[in-house]
Amino acid sequence: MKLPLLLFGLIAAIQASPAPAPVPALAPISAVEVRSPTDLSAREKVVSRTINLTSKLVIRDDEPWPVNHRTYTRSHTLPPVIIGTKTGYTQKVSYEAKVGGEIRVEVHVTLTLRPSDLSVLVNYQMLLFEGTSENTKDLDGKIEGSRRIFKNTDGLIKNTVHNTDEGGDRASLDLTVVNAP
Ligand SMILES: *[C@@H]1O[C@H](CO)[C@@H](O)[C@H](O)[C@H]1NC(C)=O
Repeated sequence: MKLPLLLFGLIAAIQASPAPAPVPALAPISAVEVRSPTDLSAREKVVSRTINLTSKLVIRDDEPWPVNHRTYTRSHTLPPVIIGTKTGYTQKVSYEAKVGGEIRVEVHVTLTLRPSDLSVLVNYQMLLFEGTSENTKDLDGKIEGSRRIFKNTDGLIKNTVHNTDEGGDRASLDLTVVNAP
């Protein structure tokens, strides 16, 4: 009597368990394994952009009376930055301007390409140093910002870093970024 009962129980348990659904479970695997040549070439496509950076810095050096202040304009045209599959999706560029015997402005730019739409994210940092020489390590002002430049467009980034420690020194940046083929 015990064995037939056990068998009956087993059969009942098998019948009660939900039927496996092999088709939906297998479908994603075959979709990953079977890839058309077009899918493959799109995935492995080599992308490259040329990023041109042109910068104008207007730097104001606050001076004690009777001079009041002096203003300096410094222009930089940076060598084109190639960014892409072969060179890496992130490139860093830095430049600086030294003025008035006591001020140094550093601009640090990080360019990151988004391969899907070829847009470039521009992260930038401006550092204002003011001290007893242009090589001073006395950091008196710092700002950061970011901007996305879409493919085949250019953008003008404007920002100003102030001497937040002392005086009225400041540096205004006009940075033109071109995202070209
Ligand atoms: C980028 O800069 C290079 C070198 O200055 C120049 O030859 C090229 O025409 C520029 N490209 C664009 C799209 O401005």
